Amino acid sequence: MNQNEELNRILSGIESLLVHQKELEVPIFISDSEESDSGSSFDTSVIDEKLNQVKEEFVDAKSLTELDIMICNCHKCELGSTRKNFVFGVGNHSAEIVFVGEAPGADEDAQGEPFVGRAGKLLNELLKEIGLKREEVFICNILKCRPPNNRDPLPHEVDKCEPYLLKQLSLLKPKIIVALGRIAGNTLLKTSETLTNLRKENYDYYGIPLVITFHPAAILRNPHWKTPTLEDLKKAKLYLEEVTN
Ligand code: URA
Repeated sequence: MNQNEELNRILSGIESLLVHQKELEVPIFISDSEESDSGSSFDTSVIDEKLNQVKEEFVDAKSLTELDIMICNCHKCELGSTRKNFVFGVGNHSAEIVFVGEAPGADEDAQGEPFVGRAGKLLNELLKEIGLKREEVFICNILKCRPPNNRDPLPHEVDKCEPYLLKQLSLLKPKIIVALGRIAGNTLLKTSETLTNLRKENYDYYGIPLVITFHPAAILRNPHWKTPTLEDLKKAKLYLEEVTN
């Protein structure tokens, strides 16, 4: 086979793969970030490279439990002195799907667990509707401490806290991340898009496929957003099933 024939064979293979994915309506995740060039859905090497630049002890944690112990007394920003509890995250330490919210609210701060208030109850219901239990997934936030009066995370708080999320993801090695809400989506992607635009695409976060959908608190304010949220979650679940089988 000459070079041209070989190239055509590869191109037609890629084409039929894309057609197959489209037929199944399996989302195709396009790498958006310059730093993510691994092309693999499960590869955490990009995250690990990023973590290598962080010269802190927690980077060496061997498990999520160990990581929690290492970071739970964090005072790297002022939220360390206003929080009641550090909210590490909860769920299955081998989860294939990780839900990432913005920051703990009052209920979460009081209980030390993410998504336990009204929005959390709705998240549990949404999970149930797509055939998942809260215990099967991992749930966390970008910020581990509650911002006073639930204000949006500030850039310097995100800078301090995001490496903790990276380490969680490096240990979890999820197959997909679902960001809950515009702020979580924009903070992860370092953009300032509307949620409508964020929902139009599939992304990757340092090499891990990322879907962005409505925050459950937003659905509580506008129940019409429940249907599109379920569509996004089903898309994520379908992708998960496709890459797992
Ligand atoms: N909203 C979030 O973004 N996270 C929580 O844990 C609770 C509410």
